[in-house]
Amino acid sequence: MQALRPAPLSSPAWDKSAAGWNQHTAPIRAWLQHATAAMLDTAGIAAGSRVLDLAAGAGDQTLDIARRVGPHGHVLATDISANALALAQANLRAAGYAQVETRLADAQALGLAGAGFDAAVCRLGLMFCAQPGHALDGVRQALRPGGRFSALVFSQPERNPCLGIMMACALQHAGLPARQPFEPGTLLSLGQPGLLAQLLLDAGFLNMDVRPVAAPFHMPSSRHYVDFVRTSGSPIMEILASLSAPAQTAAWADMASRLEVFTTPGGWVGPNELLLCGATAPGAPNH
Ligand SMILES: C[S@@+](CC[C@H](N)C(=O)[O-])C[C@H]1O[C@@H](n2cnc3c(N)ncnc32)[C@H](O)[C@@H]1O
Repeated sequence: MQALRPAPLSSPAWDKSAAGWNQHTAPIRAWLQHATAAMLDTAGIAAGSRVLDLAAGAGDQTLDIARRVGPHGHVLATDISANALALAQANLRAAGYAQVETRLADAQALGLAGAGFDAAVCRLGLMFCAQPGHALDGVRQALRPGGRFSALVFSQPERNPCLGIMMACALQHAGLPARQPFEPGTLLSLGQPGLLAQLLLDAGFLNMDVRPVAAPFHMPSSRHYVDFVRTSGSPIMEILASLSAPAQTAAWADMASRLEVFTTPGGWVGPNELLLCGATAPGAPNH
């Protein structure tokens, strides 16, 4: 195994949103339950697997992975936020999973070449990498030949209208110009049609598969959804960070009112679509 690179500094922006994300574990788990199970299936995670979990956050999907791999498997959960990893450690300890290690690491500079993982996953993290190709190169190098990678990212802007509405509203309140949705490292960056498959191909993966997965977000009201985003949605929080407290309050209220359009008789349902990708690291005996 190569020498590990020096650990990066924890990201202040992601540190700020870690507790909010963790506090909303219940709605996040409900939102992503089916997509997460599909991601773990796609990665071929089973009892005894050695799994790398990238951008693991507070470890919600790490718990599912730990349950699947069982006591004879192993999980390395990495993230760029020390606060998120501290929460992940606490959550995993409380659940009694001793087969999980955590490590502060930028997904774009993993330094895990030759580690020989059976599988690697990344739930809603890859699109935040301004250089996703570097992350995918590092993942391929961390997998054993024939090892599997699977990730979930947001799909096209028109399939995730709430994100566009909130982003436009935040930029407007902050007096900033509109941004193009596929800007690298941002929420919808990997929703550009064909991009994820091309990046996997460029990184040397085989057997690529990319497919959409519906993941509507259910909340009692748009205000509840905005309350979730204002404490856990780092990209939107950062846009509003320089505003005064009253100006921020006004922006969040404006967002809640613009999102009321997704209110249904059964509660608020924010449409979301994710892309689920699967790919195989080359070098297995049959390749
Ligand atoms: C939306 S949260 C998802 C967390 C977790 N995977 C989940 O689905 O609950 C995004 C996570 O990506 C992490 N992240 C952002 N950029 C990263 C990078 N360059 N390397 C590693 N982690 C990163 C953040 O710290 C945050 O924990």
